[in-house]
Amino acid sequence: MTSPGPSASDPAAPTTGSEWWRTAVIYQIYPRSFADSSGDGIGDLPGITSRLAELADLGVDAVWLSPFMTSPQKDAGYDVADYCDVDPLFGTLADADALIAEAHAHGIRVIVDLVPNHSSDQHRWFQEALAAEPGSAARARYLFREGRGENGELPPNNWESVFGGPAWTRITEPDGTPGPWYLHLFDATQPDFDWTNPEVHEEFRRILRFWLDRGVDGFRVDVAHGLVKADGLPDYLPPADSDSMGGGAVAAPYWAQDGVHEIYRDWHRVLAEYDGDRALCAEAWLPTPEKTALWVRPDEMHQAFNFPYLTTGWDAEKLRAVIDESLTAFGDVGAPATWVLSNHDVVRHASRLALTAENPQGHGLGPSSPGKPIPALGLQRARAATLLMLGLPGSAYLYQGEELGLPEVIELDDHVRQDPTWFRTGGERYGRDGCRVPIPWEAGAPAFGFSPSGASWLPQPDEWRDLARDAQRGDETSTLSLYRRMLAVRRAERLGGGTFTWLEAAEGVVAFRTGDVTVIANLGQTGIPLPAGEVLVASAPLAADGTLPADTAVWVRVAE
Ligand code: NOJ
Repeated sequence: MTSPGPSASDPAAPTTGSEWWRTAVIYQIYPRSFADSSGDGIGDLPGITSRLAELADLGVDAVWLSPFMTSPQKDAGYDVADYCDVDPLFGTLADADALIAEAHAHGIRVIVDLVPNHSSDQHRWFQEALAAEPGSAARARYLFREGRGENGELPPNNWESVFGGPAWTRITEPDGTPGPWYLHLFDATQPDFDWTNPEVHEEFRRILRFWLDRGVDGFRVDVAHGLVKADGLPDYLPPADSDSMGGGAVAAPYWAQDGVHEIYRDWHRVLAEYDGDRALCAEAWLPTPEKTALWVRPDEMHQAFNFPYLTTGWDAEKLRAVIDESLTAFGDVGAPATWVLSNHDVVRHASRLALTAENPQGHGLGPSSPGKPIPALGLQRARAATLLMLGLPGSAYLYQGEELGLPEVIELDDHVRQDPTWFRTGGERYGRDGCRVPIPWEAGAPAFGFSPSGASWLPQPDEWRDLARDAQRGDETSTLSLYRRMLAVRRAERLGGGTFTWLEAAEGVVAFRTGDVTVIANLGQTGIPLPAGEVLVASAPLAADGTLPADTAVWVRVAE
């Protein structure tokens, strides 16, 4: 398998040592909602391959694919039954090979999702564990524990699942008697591995090599802060203000345990066995950039998602603080900062940035949510926020559909919802379906070009006709055109790799210089004057008097 060259025109160029991930713009593909070639209403790998040219045209450096491995899809593929095969829903291994080859031919790197905290309950190992004796080697791959109470009828501790409800489920032994409980930090169909077991380590080294041998350029590591649990599994309930994925101030006994880092040092060595520079990116929900940076020390992972940045609201002072902390924390360990505004777990930023009430992470938005967003304001801010983000030094992640300005889909009927959060909280939290609706490609085609049959596993709103990619192409004012321009200028100006200097700015304004470019975002209420120079990109038209309107950002080459 090949690794891509630095540009589409020179795919054979050597890449060793390029450390492409330091400045890359990485586009997240959520396979079930990207492009469906088979007509079953669920996106698939051939569908992705058929659309790669459009991502090359957009100007991204890499794609990250959410899981497409064999899975009963109880958590949209984050419940893996076979880590080394493709689920028939998405295609075959040959389709994965073809996708990787085609992406590389376009100069696009490929990152796949690795889910090491838990498997599916349909994984061969878990099925073997259920059939095996208590205390057997087969059970020792997961976290089985006897229950509390007189007859073991109470869970071993008080931990709660991220998706709601208890984090333990009791099994029935093959002879019909009630057995021990197993831990699942997520859905009951997602049993947690026991990472104190060397067999688990060996298996994941094998899985890494399996995909590295097929030519992938890296892994996004799911729940990278969760694999190791505190000795004795002590009782713990998260404080009310902590978010569902572990971003609370107090360390839980299942998040961010010291022992987890040894696993990534080991994986770092596995990746280093390969030519080129393959990368690991941590999905670790931690409260501060400083804590997140522990995952990207020189002998561990290469990148970690900057969730403190994602969760910072539309507030200039807070943004300045989190940018400062991020550049310092990641810089101190020699890692690139990363930046992200949307993904498949959070309310899309075109809606999130204009919410009118608190919306805790993981709750999602639905018909009865308080504080619905103001759509036009959300899009205006999202465009400005992305322009600000793409000017920052480091690597940036985009989530499919944000280049079309897609908002969160709020009006989904209860019966179409599929996120386990919705079921495990008895409908109290809507969860994440609203950011996972299949994306529109062609205004006039069935399912807006998502699927040839018109089927779509979540219904698309009619308003998305106007947001279809073909409707935006050629329209200079569209969000798609803005994204293409931002990525082209970012590449030409080598933003992402440049120096960084804060500029003095009025209240409500974020301003800095990177390389030759000055980035100014106006988060205040009124227009502000701009320095003289060439406006390279603006997130919205400037005012007639040349000032920068509220909720607007620009990249300017300031006249010396
Ligand atoms: C984080 C993933 O991004 C999310 O979608 C998933 O539900 C959980 N981890 C569990 O794997």
